[in-house]
Amino acid sequence: MSYLSIRDLDLKGKRVFIRVDFNVPLQKNEQGEMEITSDKRIKASLPTIQYALEQGAGLILASHLGRPKGKPNADMSLKPVAVRLEQLLQRPVKMAPDCVGPEVEAMKPAPGEILLLENLRFHPEEEKNDPAFAQQLAALCDLYVNDAFGSAHRAHASTEGMIKYCAKAAAGLLMEQELKYLGMATTNPPRPCVAILGGAKVSDKIEVIQNLGKVVDRLVIGGAMAYTFLRAQGLPTGKSLVEEDKIELAKSLLASLGDKLLLPVDHIVVSEIAAGAANEAVDLIPEGKIAVDIGPKTIKLFSDVVAGAKTVIWNGPMGIFEKPPFDTGTVALAIAVANSGATSVVGGGDSEKAIKAAGVTAKISHVSTGGGASLEFLAGIKLPGVAALEQ
Ligand code: 3PG
Repeated sequence: MSYLSIRDLDLKGKRVFIRVDFNVPLQKNEQGEMEITSDKRIKASLPTIQYALEQGAGLILASHLGRPKGKPNADMSLKPVAVRLEQLLQRPVKMAPDCVGPEVEAMKPAPGEILLLENLRFHPEEEKNDPAFAQQLAALCDLYVNDAFGSAHRAHASTEGMIKYCAKAAAGLLMEQELKYLGMATTNPPRPCVAILGGAKVSDKIEVIQNLGKVVDRLVIGGAMAYTFLRAQGLPTGKSLVEEDKIELAKSLLASLGDKLLLPVDHIVVSEIAAGAANEAVDLIPEGKIAVDIGPKTIKLFSDVVAGAKTVIWNGPMGIFEKPPFDTGTVALAIAVANSGATSVVGGGDSEKAIKAAGVTAKISHVSTGGGASLEFLAGIKLPGVAALEQ
């Protein structure tokens, strides 16, 4: 790898700017306060934060939260994150009123202190990757660390622009972990290597299919995106979701992937989509019916393929996961991936929920913290946040 690790930096007595991805889900409670509904991303950056503190650094933590469109927005403040971080670290976290400006400069942390900047996206210059704004951020610190893998596909001031104004820049421990697993899975995976892709649309994953198709030994496609491929094969799809304008593309992918590609051989169908709706398993989708999950034969077929793998890459659900019992195929696959003993790399919210629902998180080698970033990585796209570290 041609970038520095935080372990390569001398952090003692230095002020270190750590770009984290604290873009956590929030919801308003009955008192009208914003509450964090998952602190997974905060926990994921703790090793980097703790390491930098142990090395004697003063920390400036910076993140975006939501999409406030360049304006301050109280509902997207990072204040609840500061409170949660204090609880997790068991030490004080100072909350800055902004991310740049004289008030923030006056709050620069001494060694052992932590300052959390307010939402970077309250300034439009962050997303515009404005050089003057990037310089203002860089002026706060001696060293730069990027631990925000989840934002590495964004070329913003804090993820890309400010690096050239910092004396040294390095990857944090989470960033390293993400790049290690995703890099291994997509460049030189232990074989056989199986990728499982699901989700609603082929259009969301065309580049991922094309890129992984070059690397993996088997490419398994489930979820609604499979129905566009079935239609391309001339099979009936009833009223299932099909992207009509992607059928030709699906035909060419079928031709280029050949035997590598594995599609569902049976389906759970319903007359209307509702949790608990009457359903049946069929090999061919009848007219008027909607397929909502993979059927039992497909669960067995996919699970057998996964059982023989040395590497599994999984992104996306096999059915309408949010409406039980149509989560059955996705949860069954989660168990198969966990029991395979393969090095497993999982991305995407629903696959992760399925792993949790099946109680097998501990058996998965790596669950990515990046949604869009991990998909772009799997598509073979160079992430700007990573490219900047390499330069
Ligand atoms: C994410 O949640 O995928 C990252 O934090 C990036 O957020 P964004 O899609 O709003 O840039």
